[in-house]
Amino acid sequence: MTLNLYEMTAEFYDFGNGRRVLQDDLGFYLNEFQAGQAILEVGCGTGRVGLELAKHGCEVSGLDLSIPMLNVFRRKLKSNPSLKVALFHADMTCFELSMLFDGIILPYRVFQALRSHDERIKCLESIKKHMKADTRVIVTMFDPNLKAMHDGYPKSFIDFDLYAADLGCHVRRIITEFEPDWERQIVFYEMICQKHRDGRVLEEYSERLELGFLLPRQAEALFLQNGFRIEATYGYYDYSARLEFEPREQIYVLGYKS
Ligand SMILES: C[S@@+](CC[C@H](N)C(=O)[O-])C[C@H]1O[C@@H](n2cnc3c(N)ncnc32)[C@H](O)[C@@H]1O
Repeated sequence: MTLNLYEMTAEFYDFGNGRRVLQDDLGFYLNEFQAGQAILEVGCGTGRVGLELAKHGCEVSGLDLSIPMLNVFRRKLKSNPSLKVALFHADMTCFELSMLFDGIILPYRVFQALRSHDERIKCLESIKKHMKADTRVIVTMFDPNLKAMHDGYPKSFIDFDLYAADLGCHVRRIITEFEPDWERQIVFYEMICQKHRDGRVLEEYSERLELGFLLPRQAEALFLQNGFRIEATYGYYDYSARLEFEPREQIYVLGYKS
């Protein structure tokens, strides 16, 4: 089974959307693009961002390798039939949609699903085929807090535990983080998703995630050496700068190197 596709846990994904960072990035993307623009969301998942951009008036194309994630997005589109959204089942390391876009975005750790230099370059090559001279590409990743990443492993936390009225039970996601592979720069997580009622677990699914991580200097070199211009970098979705001693997000706005 390919990793990082939420194949067992897609139905639980949106219960985590209350996280602050996932609220704050929405405002950023809506601010970056205008109605009428053609936007490609690479790794669109359940449509958390793509659906809002479509409601904003953008013509959205969403690409994802996970059928269960795309199915959740498709279900949402059924109750929003007037929105301009096209979905594609494809791998971000090799896609060809025969279209050019005004904006290409990879929200919330999508680029980090790629765990090797080779995969990252293939993804950037695929993205370039869909760019015009003025296309803006937005790539985001977490900014590794190397000090915190050295603390004791494994670390577990409850990501959410909420009552889901439509399911008539609670839903819970427990995440365990394991010691990173420092040489390959990969972080490992196990997600356990449960439906539970009255202290009894009704259903349980587990899934592993492996995310690559890059230091800002490495990310910048990757983009510059592969035909991109860095138009802007931010440390958070409020457009604030990266803080070296308080790492948060890495947000890159890229253009085509002419
Ligand atoms: C953390 S989710 C982000 C989803 C959405 N962009 C958001 O912001 O909520 C990462 C998404 O990337 C997708 N993904 C992982 N590897 C992929 C690949 N090789 N090609 C396309 N999509 C991939 C997963 O299926 C998942 O939907």
